[in-house]
Amino acid sequence: MSIGEPAAGGAWWQAAVIYQIYPRSFQDTNGDGIGDIPGIISRLDHLVELGVDAIWLSPIFPSPMADFGYDISDYTAIHPLFGDLGDFDLLLAEAHARGLKVLLDLVPNHTSDRHPWFRESRSSRRSDKRDWYIWRDPAAQGGPPNNWLSEFGGSAWAYDEPTGQYYYHAFLAAQPDLNWRNPQVRAAIYEVMRFWMQRGVDGFRVDVIWHLMKDDRFRDNPLNPDYREGDPEPHRLVPLYTTDLPEVHQVIEEMRSVVEEFEDRLLIGEIYLPLEKLVAYYGRDLRGVHLPFNFSLLLVNWHAPTIARLIEDYEALLPRGGWPNWVLGNHDRPRVAGRVGEDQARIAAMLLLTLRGTPTIYYGDELGMPQVPIPPERVHDPVERNMPGKGLSRDGARTPMQWDGGRFAGFSEVEPWLPLAADHASRNVANMREDTGSILNLHRRLIALRRRHPALTTGSYHPVHARDDLLLFARHSGGERFLVALNLGRDPVSLGFREPLRGTVILSCFADRDGEAVRGSIDLAGDDGLVIELEPESAMPAASF
Ligand code: GLC
Repeated sequence: MSIGEPAAGGAWWQAAVIYQIYPRSFQDTNGDGIGDIPGIISRLDHLVELGVDAIWLSPIFPSPMADFGYDISDYTAIHPLFGDLGDFDLLLAEAHARGLKVLLDLVPNHTSDRHPWFRESRSSRRSDKRDWYIWRDPAAQGGPPNNWLSEFGGSAWAYDEPTGQYYYHAFLAAQPDLNWRNPQVRAAIYEVMRFWMQRGVDGFRVDVIWHLMKDDRFRDNPLNPDYREGDPEPHRLVPLYTTDLPEVHQVIEEMRSVVEEFEDRLLIGEIYLPLEKLVAYYGRDLRGVHLPFNFSLLLVNWHAPTIARLIEDYEALLPRGGWPNWVLGNHDRPRVAGRVGEDQARIAAMLLLTLRGTPTIYYGDELGMPQVPIPPERVHDPVERNMPGKGLSRDGARTPMQWDGGRFAGFSEVEPWLPLAADHASRNVANMREDTGSILNLHRRLIALRRRHPALTTGSYHPVHARDDLLLFARHSGGERFLVALNLGRDPVSLGFREPLRGTVILSCFADRDGEAVRGSIDLAGDDGLVIELEPESAMPAASF
């Protein structure tokens, strides 16, 4: 069985590796303990060495920082914390000079409550911009207009005393939702997109794109029958009328057309939905986003048969010509090393970088940075503040990048905004680049291998074996055939094949088995993985699960 078609047209982002930078935590240069744009510029060579093709920056725009930049008060400027437009233009020029694309975070679902649009909108019921946001009268018996809940806890409606109406906020009250049914709102955001693309930006990751449209009849969301006491409060309801509405696809098509006014730009959508719903975001005739972020590896149980099933389900659900993608970490979810353990983080990297589709690496995961426990007095994340003690804090995955053995890991000269991981003195770029077997060099070797062999980027995917802790799959393109063998457990495993399997290890997890001949069986130490190049006359083991 083989899944996957060769890339149609071969757009740059199909063979690319994307790297997410959380700007507050990448590199501080002005001594305030918070990362900035000049800091990113000064670290571009790390990304070139790593071999990635594109960087996506979490928001760098003016913002009161109620949600750390996802509450924007000016879409076409830079927050002074990070620098100014001159710094940004320099970043673009320096990145482009190194062959790196730059993607920005577009946050069109909501603004900050300090955005001039919202100030204007709330100033009066008769304001020209009243309808730019979602205003409703109180319910007949008083209180919020319906039962909609905020993703960040509590009602999604905030009362505005002076005008006597409620406004809708899917996240914080400081993040009022824009009304995407209003054509003026759409036009304004499309202008924002053009502003950045004219400056040279290569595309956008669109924040919570599946939230853009809400029910125009404002019906109550149904109760979630699977809700268990102690689950996060927003899970009490099924977000039937607040997310994933059919109308959203029309606005995404419009966004896509805006992107296509420019050459070679990329549109990625942030979407947390089950796979069968996620794939609808490729759009009718692939007129949706190029890449609906596939977050399933963030949520899956770390178990070989489960992962094999997931890959097959995803591949089978992709629309014809839809290009796959995989994400292993981001600024909203616990670090991969925290989820699967330090040793398995390497295997996770091998999986990410050998699957069919565009991978996205979260900064610091190339070092295996841990999920950092944050003492209560240093909590910043509004999610943890609003719903404390439920393990929802996102701060632990946003700690400063670990560059070297300096006091503050080379990130800053002063105490950083979030604590450094305890292991920063040893787990850092300077140290790990000297060690051939490090997880950092594993990332470099895997990315370089992808670059050399189209089979590993655009080649087809073939499931081979998934039992207990062993996951095996193959990638083919033209005459090239690779077998990827991953041990998802601690114990050694070995697998014999009836067919005359012949190949050579071209990449081993710890860089200790490269060049080894493979004849008829595969043996793997615990937490180890191999990429094997098959000889032309070698049999291809049949799928056995
Ligand atoms: C997205 C962002 C997250 C933010 C939320 C609201 O999920 O990734 O960080 O809090 O949107 O903007």
